[in-house]
Amino acid sequence: MNTSAHPETVAAPAYDLAGWRRQIPLLDRFIPLNNCSQTPQTHRTRAAAEAYLDSWNRDGMDWERWMEEVHLAKVEFARLINASPDEVAVTTSVSAATASLASALDLSGPRHKIVATEAEFPTVGHVWLAHQKYGTTVDWVPVRDGVIALDDYDGVIDEQTRVVSACHGYYQNGFKQDLAALAAKAHDHGAWLYVDAYQTLGTCPVDVKALDVDFLSAGALKYLMGTPGIAFLYVRRELIDHLHPAVTGWFGRANPFAFDVKTLDWAPAAARFDTGTPPVVSAYVARAGLSIINEIGPARIQAWTDQLSQRLLDDGQARGLTLHGTTDVRRKAPSTAFVCPGDSHLVEVHLRERGILASARGPVIRLAPHFYNTLEEMDVALDALVEVLERKT
Ligand SMILES: Cc1ncc(COP(=O)(O)O)c(C=O)c1O
Repeated sequence: MNTSAHPETVAAPAYDLAGWRRQIPLLDRFIPLNNCSQTPQTHRTRAAAEAYLDSWNRDGMDWERWMEEVHLAKVEFARLINASPDEVAVTTSVSAATASLASALDLSGPRHKIVATEAEFPTVGHVWLAHQKYGTTVDWVPVRDGVIALDDYDGVIDEQTRVVSACHGYYQNGFKQDLAALAAKAHDHGAWLYVDAYQTLGTCPVDVKALDVDFLSAGALKYLMGTPGIAFLYVRRELIDHLHPAVTGWFGRANPFAFDVKTLDWAPAAARFDTGTPPVVSAYVARAGLSIINEIGPARIQAWTDQLSQRLLDDGQARGLTLHGTTDVRRKAPSTAFVCPGDSHLVEVHLRERGILASARGPVIRLAPHFYNTLEEMDVALDALVEVLERKT
């Protein structure tokens, strides 16, 4: 076993890198390193979007087929996280998933507290804060030096805590939390663990059963190779029957096609967290994108993206760039953040002019490679970043 701070060195990915690169036309013009923000299009995801457009054009409507596609997107998502498809709800964003979950919790009783981290994507914090009007309180676990210390949860999680809301990867710099340890801490106090895995899913194995996670959400447009408009919410089987979201709609019913306006029954599955007409077009693309990740395999993706991350960490610092976050590649998603003394958005613009797609967030610029990138591309991106920063943009 490798116990150093470096991952095992892997000379090449354990999959057909050149073949997958041919799937991504954008690579002819850019080095896409903005997966923390938006993944590139592939032939497969484009064909999926076209399949919907063709169906719509040819048949006018084909709801049976379209609903099947939404279901198959859930199946691919479930496979990725080792859940059962009936433990997965489909929604439109992580915000909507979080709001649905929050609306199903009793936040006014003795367990009225949410423990969230300062590393949550703001939308997640906002949903919890909005529930203060129902009596909930939100306690924060701090981010210090770009990371969260596990010990900082101690004393914050207590017997009043309903949910610990923790991102898996920190959107700002990719720092990854130890989900198994967090689940244990939450459960020790009778609380549940809700994970926003948007910044990690697709880049490493996430097994909700092995990790003992209670709820997990993620959208499709970052490392899952999809588009905006769709996200998923995992709800642990044993909890489903106890939860009745006030954010609901006809697709959350036992039989959506009963059309009984006066009966509020509940789908006997996580589908009770579905709301209205699902995002069909996005589901076509999401299913295709997820199938790419499942076909390559998250473990094989991680083995390669760890190499790319290590190159960014080592060679970025060797070039004098200031890292934001951890230096331990095993504690981070592929996103690597460097501090920009000036306007980080301008840095993003100037990198784009040089053929590099990066993503600015607050004081940092993020380079977020994925399975299709090469080590050489990391060098090119770092050289370009140094050049841009030296011009004091
Ligand atoms: C970790 C994380 N959560 C949530 C979001 C956004 O969620 P939503 O789907 O509500 O836009 C982002 C977007 O950048 C993110 O990085």
